[in-house]
Parts: sequence; structure tokens; C-alpha cells
Amino acid sequence: MDGNGRWATKRGLPRVAGHRAGAEAVRKAMRAAADAGVEVLTIYAFSSENWRRSDDEIADLTGLMRFYLERELKTLEKEKVRLQLIGHPEAFGSELGQRLQKAVERTAANTRLTLNIALNYGSRAELTAAAKRLAVLAKAGEIDPEGIDEQAMAAGLQTAGLPDLDLLIRTSGELRLSNFLLWQAAYAELVFLDILWPDFDEAAFNDALAAYAGRQRRFGGR
Ligand code: IPE
Ligand code: MG
Repeated sequence: MDGNGRWATKRGLPRVAGHRAGAEAVRKAMRAAADAGVEVLTIYAFSSENWRRSDDEIADLTGLMRFYLERELKTLEKEKVRLQLIGHPEAFGSELGQRLQKAVERTAANTRLTLNIALNYGSRAELTAAAKRLAVLAKAGEIDPEGIDEQAMAAGLQTAGLPDLDLLIRTSGELRLSNFLLWQAAYAELVFLDILWPDFDEAAFNDALAAYAGRQRRFGGR
């Protein structure tokens, strides 16, 4: 999700107004994904690098998370959406952390769509933790370093149990991955949209799906 700040600035509004509109767009994306039969939708809500923003903006983002979590929990239940988290949401404080955990537990049995929210997430940190886990197991003699394979790495990632990424959409015209799911996106189709995240809606989602459907995926074959 990128472009909230620019969306607000274009309208002469404070950045927080863009984040608020961006949160509404998440709901649209969730509905569009569920309607299209998507299994897992991962939303990059806050990166481990977003701490570089001002204290005010971080407080605004945290407040919005709390507000929308409270308000949308019923929507998740009604739409049969299972909430999952990756990253380190505990950094947002124990109160929000507990609320998030509660929402994860309350939606655990839902099967229509998995909404995976990346909060305080960074792909390099995730990969480093997975490598460290394997090193610790090897040192303890519990695994043979020679036997470490791609499955063993993937099992140590926070996305263990989720399928690899098929389609990665970035909004706002930026052409970067910005430390998002680097391992999981190895063969993802990349779609870059010029629209700002708050303007993302079902039509934009369907455009991205159409672009995806037009790609020939060869996974290194020919
Ligand atoms: C992305 O929008 C939202 C979050 C990081 C939560 P930005 O805040 O990056 O918006 P721009 O890039 O400044 O327009
Ligand atoms: Mg941005």
C-alpha cells in the first residue's frame, strides 16, 4: 500500500487523512480478493523501516490500527476472513498486541480468505531469523547442516504454511519491492499501478488480476 501521503497532500489534507482513506481501501481490497476467490491477501501495512517517520505519524498510524481493528473485527467474522500477522507487531505495545492476537484467535476457523497483515515487517530480518534458527538447531546437533534445503528455510519464515506469492501489486507508481517478501516473491508476477493506495478499489484489483492472467508463468522453464 503506497501513496497515502501523496493522496492527502494533493487534496491539501494532513497525511493522516490519507492513512484513514488507505484503511478504507484495505476493506475494498479484502472484499475484492474474497470475491475473486483469492486464498491469501497479504497487506504491507507497516515496514520495519517505517519507524523512521515522525513520532506524530507513527502515533497516527498506531491509532488507526487500533480503531480499524475494533471496527472491522465484525466484518472479518461476517465475511469469513481469517486474520494472520507477520512481522513484529508486539513493538506497537502490549495493548494493541493483545487486541491483534485476540482478533487472530477469533477468526482462526474462517476459511474464505486469509488476510495476512505485515506489521513492523522486514523481509531481510525475517530471512536472518530463519538462518539463525537453523544455525542454532545445527549447533545443538538437532539437524545436519548438509541437510538444510529450501523447505527448511521456508519453514522458518513467518509465512510458513502459506503458499508462495503469485501476484505482487505495488501502488503509487514506485517500482521497488522495499524489503517485502523477498523469498516468497521469487516467482511472483509483479504489477505496478499508477494509482495512489486510497484510490485502490475493486476495479483496480480486477485490472491487476487481468494483467496477471495475461502473463505466462514458466518458473524458469521455457
Ligand atoms: C503508505 O503510504 C502507507 C504506510 C506506510 C502506512 P505512504 O505514507 O508511504 O504515502 P506516500 O508514499 O508518502 O505518498
Ligand atoms: Mg510511501
